[in-house]
Amino acid sequence: MSTNSTLKIVPKSGPTRRVSVPDLAARKGGEPIVSLTAYTAPMAKILDPHCDFLLVGDSLGMVLYGLDSTLGVTLDMAINHGAAVVRGSSRACVIVDMPFGTYQESPEQAYRNCAQVMIETGCAAIKIEGGTEMAETVRFLVERGIPVMGHVGLKPQSVNVAGGYRAHGRNQDEAAKVKKDAHAIADAGAFSIVIEGVVEHLAAEITRDIHVVTIGIGASAACDGQILVTEDAFGMFTDFTPRFVKRFAEIAEEMDKAAADYAKEVKARTFPADEHCYGKK
Ligand code: KIV
Repeated sequence: MSTNSTLKIVPKSGPTRRVSVPDLAARKGGEPIVSLTAYTAPMAKILDPHCDFLLVGDSLGMVLYGLDSTLGVTLDMAINHGAAVVRGSSRACVIVDMPFGTYQESPEQAYRNCAQVMIETGCAAIKIEGGTEMAETVRFLVERGIPVMGHVGLKPQSVNVAGGYRAHGRNQDEAAKVKKDAHAIADAGAFSIVIEGVVEHLAAEITRDIHVVTIGIGASAACDGQILVTEDAFGMFTDFTPRFVKRFAEIAEEMDKAAADYAKEVKARTFPADEHCYGKK
């Protein structure tokens, strides 16, 4: 370096720092947390700038694989899609949903499978469904370095016990159970809890009373953040839209139109045109 040159400190333009689990935890009562589901790298890339976290939900079984519940999702599916979402994003915290049967048996089984998911995907945290019965497992995981997001209220993995998908907390006994579950999971060390499909006042009361961030889906704007299944929110399914979903786009309609235009041009031999062909000027 020449002696008369002015020393310029150029800030390193390194990769964006990802939102961390403590960042999310610190948002209690603050600006609402924005999250959506993602299962693939291209979708993660689109959603990443807008979301604080991306959830690789086990809803992927229904959304991507056409299963009629989330129960058929395997650990390999969660790992492959989780890794794709981590690769496709650089800013949002990535959280992977543990599939049915991979964590309910014992804290040890849960630890083995959650650790494998974290190691093989690079995700920052995992999500498990359940209330008081899962509290011991949540404590076991958190004490051993696995950040846990809980999930209470409507628990899709328990659809066969509950007898279907419906809102919870409409009567006192049910409301008391959801509250007890949320408190048990928060006290066990979860950094956040998804509250799904519960009546508005109950979600508001839980959010007020527990010290961890709540993420609502069909649980009112009182929660500390919101999540939706992206394909629901963007109108990629046309058959059924649950009451709690707002469609922010009509992607299925757009795709239907694009496919029809493509088919028309292929049949008319107007696609590919000269500009799409090699060796033509
Ligand atoms: O599987 C999932 O996508 C979920 C959320 C929608 C909360 O659990």
